[in-house]
Amino acid sequence: MALTYADFCRSAQYLTDRVPYTPDTAIILGSCLGPFAEEIENPIVIDYGDIPHFLRSTVESHAGKLIFGTVGGKKVVCMSGRFHSYEGYDFEDLVIPIRVLKLLGVQRAILTNASGAVNTAYHPGDIMVISDHIKLNGPSPLRGPNVEEFGPRFFDVSQMYTPELRELALECAKGSPLTFHEGVYMFFPGPQFETPAEIRAARILGADAVGMSTVTEALTAAHCGLPVLALAVITNMAAGVKPGPVTGEEVDDTAALIAGPFSAYLKRLVAAL
Ligand code: HPA
Repeated sequence: MALTYADFCRSAQYLTDRVPYTPDTAIILGSCLGPFAEEIENPIVIDYGDIPHFLRSTVESHAGKLIFGTVGGKKVVCMSGRFHSYEGYDFEDLVIPIRVLKLLGVQRAILTNASGAVNTAYHPGDIMVISDHIKLNGPSPLRGPNVEEFGPRFFDVSQMYTPELRELALECAKGSPLTFHEGVYMFFPGPQFETPAEIRAARILGADAVGMSTVTEALTAAHCGLPVLALAVITNMAAGVKPGPVTGEEVDDTAALIAGPFSAYLKRLVAAL
């Protein structure tokens, strides 16, 4: 059932009653990128299950906690655990976290995810700063009655991955041992990985990487005017790009390998905001 503006306000109020400051930046941690949460100083941890009207995480590698604290001297709120349509949520419900974070007063959202590379010049362990996306699968999260308090019925998405944040992300990449790219992310709803034919189609359409998240959150942020930076961690070559199957194990293994340098990078980035 679609939430009303008053419902979103109740969720946000629950959090403001428990946290004595307004975080500047919201960070959503993707699959197995949870170790960044350990970088958060003076953490205030709130379970999703305790927040009125919030969604609950069902994926094992997603913790399901909102963590407030300080990183690189900046106040942040971190979603350790995110929501995907493949878990069974309606697309319309996937607006909830970003809208609650917006009501909290954050100035920007940094979205991270694990992705498969369509671009053959990419390698597992690389990072792609998302410049744009393709979403041909599934309805918009903004479908249904428009909540005017957040934004207009029809809205522009031609600059939704904020150029200034992308520029800063690439600038901060200079000190990182990781290899960075800028490219187009294509949303697939999962939970199955894609077929080789779907990946060939994605390449023809202009995708550099594919994944099952991020786009719903980015669209919700665009609707309510919240600047977004989205970072895709390339955990594997997408289906058919190299011989052999795509496995969840490979995704988890690469994510675990790069969690350290990626966390260090994110910390530098947040400090530079
Ligand atoms: N496809 C979709 N989602 C993913 C992939 C992939 O290859 N790797 C990590 N998340």
